[in-house]
Amino acid sequence: MKRNLTDIISQMTLEEKASLCSGLNMWQTKPVERLGIPSIVMTDGPHGLRKQANPGDMSSKTVPATCFPSGAGLASSWDRELIREVGAAIGEECQQEDVQIILGPAVNIKRSPLCGRNFEYFSEDPYLSSEMGASHVKGVQSQGVGTSVKHFAANNQETLRNSINAVVDERTLNEIYLRSFEGPVIEGDAWTVMCAYNQVNGDYCSENDYLLNQVLKQRWGHGGLVMTDWGAINERVKGLKAGLELEMPYVGPEHDRMIVEAVQSGELDEAVLDEAVRRLLTVIFKGYDGKKEGFTYDAEAHHQLARRAAADCMVLLKNEGGLLPLKPEQSVAVIGAFAKHPRYQGGGSSHITPTRMDAPFDAIAGMSADCAFAPGYLLKGGEADDSLIEEAVKLAQSKDVAVIFAGLPDSFESEGVDRTRLDMPSSHIRLIEAVAAAQPNTVVVLSNGSPVTMPWLPQVQAVLEGYLGGQATGSAAADVLYGKVNPNGKLAETFPVRLEQTPAFLNFPGGKSEVTYGEGLFVGYRYYEAKKEEPLFPFGYGLSYTTFAYEDIRADRTSMKDTDTVNVSVTIRNTGTVAGKEIVQLYVKPLESHVVRPVKELKGFAKVHLQPGEAKTVHFALDQRAFAYFNTDIHDWFAETGAYEIVAGPSSADTPLSVTLTLESTGIPFRKVGRNTKFYELMAIPETAVFAEEAMEGSLERLKQMGAMFAESMGDDGIAELFEAMVKWRKYDALRSLSGMMGGGTSEADLSKIIDDLNTKLKLNS
Ligand code: BGC
Repeated sequence: MKRNLTDIISQMTLEEKASLCSGLNMWQTKPVERLGIPSIVMTDGPHGLRKQANPGDMSSKTVPATCFPSGAGLASSWDRELIREVGAAIGEECQQEDVQIILGPAVNIKRSPLCGRNFEYFSEDPYLSSEMGASHVKGVQSQGVGTSVKHFAANNQETLRNSINAVVDERTLNEIYLRSFEGPVIEGDAWTVMCAYNQVNGDYCSENDYLLNQVLKQRWGHGGLVMTDWGAINERVKGLKAGLELEMPYVGPEHDRMIVEAVQSGELDEAVLDEAVRRLLTVIFKGYDGKKEGFTYDAEAHHQLARRAAADCMVLLKNEGGLLPLKPEQSVAVIGAFAKHPRYQGGGSSHITPTRMDAPFDAIAGMSADCAFAPGYLLKGGEADDSLIEEAVKLAQSKDVAVIFAGLPDSFESEGVDRTRLDMPSSHIRLIEAVAAAQPNTVVVLSNGSPVTMPWLPQVQAVLEGYLGGQATGSAAADVLYGKVNPNGKLAETFPVRLEQTPAFLNFPGGKSEVTYGEGLFVGYRYYEAKKEEPLFPFGYGLSYTTFAYEDIRADRTSMKDTDTVNVSVTIRNTGTVAGKEIVQLYVKPLESHVVRPVKELKGFAKVHLQPGEAKTVHFALDQRAFAYFNTDIHDWFAETGAYEIVAGPSSADTPLSVTLTLESTGIPFRKVGRNTKFYELMAIPETAVFAEEAMEGSLERLKQMGAMFAESMGDDGIAELFEAMVKWRKYDALRSLSGMMGGGTSEADLSKIIDDLNTKLKLNS
């Protein structure tokens, strides 16, 4: 229904406008009945609905909802369509339960595997995370229900999450941490964004003008509203000015009153409040108009979707001797308390009441002619119990195969606290080691929200990473173990060998008030590749019951301007005997650069289903952004002139196909030429390259001659080489060094004139 919001706002009193800027209670917005402004309901999120039956009553129970795999699992599917379907199903559940906004997706980057909330987040890679987030948003919102992309931004740890100041340089912030939000906000057009509790570079996210006004609203054009994380408000009026519309939950009238007083005293321009109210009303009416009264969802269909999703998220990490898939006639020892009481979701605000539960043991019993169970460890506490281990070993010895369900118990990872180590509890480790020693056919199925160390890996034949697979995790695991589903997930994060090897090890979780993102851009595989560190399992890794050959890569051009697009196609074939899905990954590698860059970065991926023997070609379109870095002088993306390699393969550590292209930049990597503009930057622009070349020539020549003289007098050719290297680095020097390099001939006045002329040439004088 079309409404005239300007008209409605003009009829609202100052008090009514201010009151709309905070909730009604824990989960609702305030209505203004006399003007027909309704109240809408929002609840958690992200991988299912956590709705209290009566949103106004904190003691009311949460209604049952389908528990889908959590973010860490969903991302391992690398399947945009699947995530969209899951989102749409969640949207339907919102419709039945009269919820207008679901709080998710959660797209924070996995900076350290220790972050207690990594199970909710998608990836260490911002492109993958952004793509998954966008699909989730599109799915939910296709049902007329809004999303709240969270937690904006740099909320990458739980330690001191309400106060810590994340110190992140501008380039890293944009390339890694903000990049992850771009897809859900811009492409997904998320109705709302939830700001994080923490500070970023000295300002709380709830009052961070850079994040909310400059990036989200101005640069990305977000038209919806920003709400606080629950209780993340600091100074109310400062927040409103910085672009925060809604404070959640309602804690009393004081903050609304402060807004009124700020307008009355002239501290706050009423136009700022009016703009906030316009955004609030836009979302409130969208939610209200999208309601489908009396809608009911098909719980059985959603459970089946949860099962399909969980199976497609599992990652086969090891399968020696083709032990998997299991055969129905093999007798199986099903070991581990998780087989009867699965760990299928994480703790905290995303914890939901499932509509039903599939236990792994029951699912295996339905597929195996002969199976029996031993708990192996206690669900609570981490200490090993010798008698339980002994019982499990006996059972394992009596069967053809042992399948152990192990991983991390609830108490090992949760919202609100970070992990302190990567190890599984000793009860699980000792059980695996004892069973593997007694049974050569041992499979481990893991339930965990983030990486664990695997000292026992060489001793077992197969490992299936199940993540936190949601309510159908048990049946999905059985589907994969028995080959009903050919495993097709791949890791969306690197699994390290040990904690000390991880990128943020020296800077996580920081001190009492501050955490410095000292590893900069080098998060996840960007770090391991730059350091040539071999992880336990690399980003993008995952096995299948079939094999794939990467046959061909083609680009439709060998050179391009940064205003063009290059189309790349990759052909792969299923060379095995069963049908399967492969995730084709495309990375861009700058071959030369004047700035620090990761070895390579993910810029495309596609999931392809292939019958045995079948080949398919997948297509990718790469534009300027695929080659660009975030330039902190122009505060924008910039793709340098130069050569780039585009590589494709089954994982970040295996990219057999490659094609090279050269890119020509049409942009200018600085706002204005100044004394400290670098020569190489001038060389990159046709209008100034001639000048730079001329200016450099004499001085560089002289430097070379000096080198030759020294070499001769010292009788050492190596000296000349040293001078060659010096010449190279002088080429990167700043413009002001011109005077010295030109033999003292350039005065300050001449330098100013040169700078002026260059700015005129480049039309940068305004
Ligand atoms: C969490 C959010 C959640 C909110 C409401 C907060 O503690 O950080 O992710 O949406 O609570 O439950």
